[in-house]
Amino acid sequence: MKIAMIGTGYVGLVSGICLSDFGHDVVCVDKDSSKVERLQRGEVPIYEPGLDQLMEKNVSAGRLSFTIDLTEALDDAEAVFIAVGTPTRRGDGHADLSFVMAAAEEIAKTAKNYIVIVTKSTVPVGTNRQVKQTVRKANPDLEFDVASNPEFLREGAAIEDFMKPDRVVVGVQTERAAEVMQEIYRPLYLREFPILTTDLESAEMIKYAANAFLATKITFINEIAALCERTGADVKQVSRGMGLDGRIGNKFLHAGPGYGGSCFPKDTRALARTGQEHGLPLQITEAVIAVNEEIKRRMIDKLVDMCDGSFNGKTVAVLGATFKPNTDDMREAPSLTIVPALVGGGAKVRVCDPQGQREGEERLPGVQWVDDPYKCVSKAHLVVLLTEWNEFRALDLKRIARKMETPRLADLRNIYSVKDAKRAGFDAYESVGRVGFLRQTAKETAAE
Ligand code: UDX
Repeated sequence: MKIAMIGTGYVGLVSGICLSDFGHDVVCVDKDSSKVERLQRGEVPIYEPGLDQLMEKNVSAGRLSFTIDLTEALDDAEAVFIAVGTPTRRGDGHADLSFVMAAAEEIAKTAKNYIVIVTKSTVPVGTNRQVKQTVRKANPDLEFDVASNPEFLREGAAIEDFMKPDRVVVGVQTERAAEVMQEIYRPLYLREFPILTTDLESAEMIKYAANAFLATKITFINEIAALCERTGADVKQVSRGMGLDGRIGNKFLHAGPGYGGSCFPKDTRALARTGQEHGLPLQITEAVIAVNEEIKRRMIDKLVDMCDGSFNGKTVAVLGATFKPNTDDMREAPSLTIVPALVGGGAKVRVCDPQGQREGEERLPGVQWVDDPYKCVSKAHLVVLLTEWNEFRALDLKRIARKMETPRLADLRNIYSVKDAKRAGFDAYESVGRVGFLRQTAKETAAE
């Protein structure tokens, strides 16, 4: 089947490449000609493990191509996916649908034959009906259907998530559209991955409800973590004890510096906004958004305490800037709140991240980027572990402690423990949801 994919951002590119790997003929379209040129040269503009090889394989097989020309992409296509951005709209927190609607209008003006217009971008409930109206208005003669097909890809594991999904959700209005969608996902269907066919509104709602639920789960454990610190409980033990209950499950119960990324913050805000628009404020989701902000602020308080009340004149080494490992994405990463607070407070900040530097250089002004974690911590007063990259999971803590001016570790991902830190010779260790320790240094004791 020939498929067009509009938008070669994260979702569009991963989906386009994976659909071509299913054996479909996929043409990816983007307005950004320099991006298309890069893709045509075989360069993948994002960091996602395995994506470059999969792209090369399918381009070589003649199933995957890139263009700026929508007419060429839509020629003979039976389905066109809209995978353009839906950023948070300035002012009201709602999803900005202008890119989606512009794509819909262009499809209407370009398509010649029956086509299924599939929305892959995350869009509020009701958007697919709006897409339908927009297309009908722009070209009353076009024969088409709309479908909602939300994505559930995790960055860093996107190919695996696409190829072995927990489920595929397809919202349709007609049998004809359902058949086209089934054909698209046939390889998954054959391997018995659940394909859930719903109405348009339910498909749209599933995506938001799932993300808001996951954000709630994380925020819940983060709030419990704060209470664990006050009461002497250990949140890792608490999570394990909770997660063994099959009804709760052990995933997404890792306490940390607050959720970030391209989806959870944006989607929770948009869902809350939809609730308000319908006169039904979603109190839980609204609380999750507020508590997540509060959690990020608490992390800063924790770091101030570890710097004896002020960042001024301190050197702080930050390990990890991306919102999670295995991505170069820094959208709404906790580092964007924490690092400016360090810099603003007068600290000299060095950052080390295996993939984050390119984006980070723009987003985190006033910091020095260092490739090697051991160089990063040299003469520092505090090291802050902010992203749990594998590279940071087995650091030689003794070597780190030896290189620091005052060996103090803020482990905001709970990778290490008080025992590890004491054994390595740290003077202070704090994590999230576990009681840490602060040992006065010989220098401080002498000064008193
Ligand atoms: C998420 C969803 O998982 C995916 O289904 C959806 O379609 C897009 O949004 P992603 O943003 O790639 O994917 O990241 P995810 O792995 O879900 O993590 C999101 C955030 O939550 C990160 O900041 C991560 O550090 C944080 N997190 C996750 C925790 O703090 N604790 C956890 O236990 C899990």
